Amino acid sequence: IVRNFSSSSAMQSAIKNVTVIGGGLMGSGIAQVSAQAGQNVTLVDVSNDALAKAKKSIGTNLSRVAKKMYKDNPQEGEKFVNDSLGRINTATDAAEASKSADLVVEAIVENIGVKHKLFKQLDGVAPSHTIFASNTSSLSINEIASVVKRKDKFGGLHFFNPVPVMRLLEVVKGSETSEATYKTMMEWGKSVGKTCITCKDTPGFVVNRLLVPYICEAIRLYERGDASARDIDIAMKLGAGYPMGPLELADYVGLDTNKFILDGWHKKFPDQQLFKPIPLLEKLVAEGKLGVKTGEGFYKYE
Ligand code: CAA
Ligand code: NAD
Repeated sequence: IVRNFSSSSAMQSAIKNVTVIGGGLMGSGIAQVSAQAGQNVTLVDVSNDALAKAKKSIGTNLSRVAKKMYKDNPQEGEKFVNDSLGRINTATDAAEASKSADLVVEAIVENIGVKHKLFKQLDGVAPSHTIFASNTSSLSINEIASVVKRKDKFGGLHFFNPVPVMRLLEVVKGSETSEATYKTMMEWGKSVGKTCITCKDTPGFVVNRLLVPYICEAIRLYERGDASARDIDIAMKLGAGYPMGPLELADYVGLDTNKFILDGWHKKFPDQQLFKPIPLLEKLVAEGKLGVKTGEGFYKYE
């Protein structure tokens, strides 16, 4: 028991420095919850412009959290926002930023080639104890990990959008993820305020295996003209108690991300009807209508 206890507290303190790669929708949220929990964060993106945008959105979202947490004490709230922001450094060189990391969480574009290139580079420079995790929505953790030597220190940490609000974290065990790595990821997830569930490395893990086909069926329903977008969304909100309708959710997740997920699964499982490409989704993405993040998808946003 004593050994278990000491190894678990050692694990908890094992993650002090987190490097988050990709400062988009997800990476900025992951950086935020890590900083809120007192960790030192380095947020990496390809340009200073992208990083400035990420920091701005983190500031706004921290203020929303502070307003709730410190509603009777705005001064404390302001301190919370400033202290959390102060724990986030930014960088454009992922390799350099991984040298001081205990944990690297990758949240870049959903493309296996791009993820491989990144992890291969990091594997050569990050300290040997550093754990690598991917926030992939739909790719195989084993496939992503295939390019690194530290396969025992590689796993999935799948967050949900918006990260500061959604309470779930899927912790994905690849076939070579060690028990120690898995336990450290579970402890870390808890320390950033999430309820963790354990998933095998199967397509979409739990949530997306159910949610993505549901969203796709809603797009097909709309494409066939069976109901208007608004009515489909109202139906699922009022008839099934979902906080957002499926088309609103598709816009919120990003239509490009939806398409990357579907394309990847279609390539892998060409006979599965549910994963067949959707012409309307292809069209919107080709037109740059990616949802909330570009101001238009199924709906228009200010
Ligand atoms: N940061 C911090 N706080 C936020 C926030 C953010 N980014 N977004 C919303 N909030 C807070 C608001 O401040 C608000 O707080 P109060 O209740 O204290 O006022 C609360 O969350 C609710 O927000 P709103 O009033 O603005 O709007 P809402 O009630 O419609 O809730 C929502 C917004 C939480 C996003 C809700 O609509 C929802 O749960 N939608 C479904 C989201 C979902 O399904 N996510 C999973 C997507 S799939 C995925 O992520 C996996 C993948 O791999 C693709
Ligand atoms: P996004 O497009 O909002 O952000 C991606 C960011 O990564 C961009 O800022 C981009 O400049 C940056 N980037 C791309 N290549 C990079 C590189 N080589 N080095 C550093 N930065 C790089 O995408 P997102 O929605 O945040 O998704 C990121 C990952 O999280 C994807 O794997 C996605 O499948 C997954 N995910 C998305 C959601 C969602 O709802 N959108 C939910 C859970 C998981």
